[in-house]
Amino acid sequence: MRTQPVAVADFTSYESAYLSGFSNTFSSEPIPRALPQGQNSPLLCPYGLYAEQISGTSFTSPRELNRRTWFYRIKPSVTHEPFKPRVPAHSKLLSEFNQSNSSATPTQLRWKPVEIPDSPTDFVDGAIHYHLTNISALFLRSIPILLFRYTANKSMDKCAFCNADGDFLLVPQKGRLWITTECGRLQVSPDEIVVLPQGFRFAIDLPDGPSRGYVAEIFGTHFQLPDLGPIGANGLAAPRDFLVLPALFEEGTHPVLTAPTEKHGVALLDFVIFPPRWLVAEHTYQPPYYHRNCMSEFMGLILGGYEAKADGFLPGGASLHICMTPHGPDTKTYEATIAQGNEAGPQKLTDTMAFMFESCLIPRVCQWALDSPAIDPDYYRCWIGLRSHFSTEGLMDQIKLD
Ligand SMILES: [Fe+2]
Repeated sequence: MRTQPVAVADFTSYESAYLSGFSNTFSSEPIPRALPQGQNSPLLCPYGLYAEQISGTSFTSPRELNRRTWFYRIKPSVTHEPFKPRVPAHSKLLSEFNQSNSSATPTQLRWKPVEIPDSPTDFVDGAIHYHLTNISALFLRSIPILLFRYTANKSMDKCAFCNADGDFLLVPQKGRLWITTECGRLQVSPDEIVVLPQGFRFAIDLPDGPSRGYVAEIFGTHFQLPDLGPIGANGLAAPRDFLVLPALFEEGTHPVLTAPTEKHGVALLDFVIFPPRWLVAEHTYQPPYYHRNCMSEFMGLILGGYEAKADGFLPGGASLHICMTPHGPDTKTYEATIAQGNEAGPQKLTDTMAFMFESCLIPRVCQWALDSPAIDPDYYRCWIGLRSHFSTEGLMDQIKLD
């Protein structure tokens, strides 16, 4: 049974009300003078509202790191009934990871797209943890991240979700998300991303019905824009690329968001995109070269194909290359690229949008994900056909010339 899209208020009408920026300060009021003037918590708030603050950081955090939101609401959020355990428990959203339910492996892993379930499934029901990174370098203490995917066919009904201990970065791959948050309503399409900060409650409706995507969750820090460097003040993502509440990215950027560690230049999590673009460098192998990375790489594909994989990496699929595991273009891609020769002209990559969650941590993979029917047991074969192109032809002629 496929559930139909649920009719809710048209979220598209809210897009014109978005404010632009990232990590700067915003204020808005749905009715005039609803915000107190000159103070946060007056004895009597305008219109008899309650003042309530969500603290994103400790209140003594330095100004540049401090995160807070003041709400003025008809009822404070404390007016809820006692929490109860979810029944039945969610078998694929784990809170603890150990040797019995997860493991670390140096083998390259790849998963096919997760099928949209037939039974009614909302965002929370369909959220499935794939990976936990919890073996951290000493300088990171024990700050982990979680990576997972969601599949859903049903709007959240009379319920909300609150991530009390981490920030979510959602990357939709199929179907728009209409997200009702405590700060307003957002429409997020598969060419956009959204950051849902720690502690904020939200509900997700599915105007297009079947939906799936990827999620990264970080703990102990918040997303920020990546540092600028040699490429100058106008490179990478800019605050204006983002709409408040959360985020929107424009084509053409690469590093989009970063969650830093205490070690400068080392990310707990980087979010990087591979958008349509021109390849223009001469005498250069353009697809990603073969490499082993001290960072671990989890990749997803939003649409089209990925330049380094001719086959097998599908929209909605995923791959994981743990730190220092070799990877790169598959055989078909490598052969087709070198066959073009050095005289190949500029080339434009179109119909593509891939992304990567890159982390300095070591992933542990849930056992269910290793046993999943979606896993590609033949992934390693995509490199098996790589053959030697070594040749001494012309060597003697060269020696004679020298
Ligand atoms: Fe890589």
